[in-house]
Amino acid sequence: MVALITGASSGIGRDLARQLAKKNYDLIIVARSEDKLNELKNEISNSYNVMVDVVVADLSDEKKCIKLHNSIFKNYGTIDILINNAGFGDCGNFTDTHLDKELLMIKTNITAYHILTKLFLKDMVKEDRGYILNVASIAGFMPGPLMATYYSTKAYVVRLTQSIRTELGKQKSKVKVAVLCPGPVDTNFNNVADVKFSIKGQSSEYVAKYTVKKINKKRTIIFSSFWVFLYRHICKLIPDQLASFINYNVQNRKIQ
Ligand SMILES: NC(=O)c1ccc[n+]([C@@H]2O[C@H](COP(=O)([O-])OP(=O)(O)OC[C@H]3O[C@@H](n4cnc5c(N)ncnc54)[C@H](OP(=O)(O)O)[C@@H]3O)[C@@H](O)[C@H]2O)c1
Repeated sequence: MVALITGASSGIGRDLARQLAKKNYDLIIVARSEDKLNELKNEISNSYNVMVDVVVADLSDEKKCIKLHNSIFKNYGTIDILINNAGFGDCGNFTDTHLDKELLMIKTNITAYHILTKLFLKDMVKEDRGYILNVASIAGFMPGPLMATYYSTKAYVVRLTQSIRTELGKQKSKVKVAVLCPGPVDTNFNNVADVKFSIKGQSSEYVAKYTVKKINKKRTIIFSSFWVFLYRHICKLIPDQLASFINYNVQNRKIQ
């Protein structure tokens, strides 16, 4: 069994790799930081009898995403699990944040997920097996003032995944796609986004352990805790404009 995880050099992706190695998956780990990927490879190889293939790639470049799929298909054929996890955020008023950083975010958080989901899903559908997990966020269900671009990228991932899941169901396919929606998790995310959480985050180890238990099961949306699940359902009951107002105040407290 082979699993590919993007953004495996840190945080949630790194812990998902550790948990899948524990379950005997051979791993393809992808990110830009070669040293961190090699460190993880050594750690996993010393503890588990699995293969770890390191691929250094900047997934904000769409050609690299296509190249990644083609080389993986050539070497491994159809893989068993794809986890699209690489991503980042940014914080500030939309008129103050930098366009270049946002375009990079859209390419990493949306375009790369879109390309990899499409290409790997086509292989999986042909063989009628496989599982794709897209890492979105609770942010994908609501407006996110002061993190407008980030929230919007995650909304894209949620809706794309839900829609494909229904198509697969209608085709009676055995392939499953699901979306992981965590709340705050203690990773390097905050440093990159230049924010600090107003509430304590979950550990990435806990989120990864919980998520791996849900992989290959029926659930389309995986919430990382009961509180995240509850927050999503409270937001369903209130007008979007009120959710937007509440989120503005939550985000405002995060800005350093
Ligand atoms: N932390 C949270 O509170 C939280 C909550 C909900 C959802 N999420 C989502 O969870 C996912 C993982 O984030 P995290 O919290 O684990 O943050 P993290 O510790 O900063 O990890 C982000 C990972 O993405 C990789 N990455 C970023 N840009 C990339 C690019 N252009 N090409 C290839 N890899 C890239 C990074 O590796 P390199 O820098 O080595 O490339 C790193 O491995 C993200 O999609 C994030 O939006 C996080």
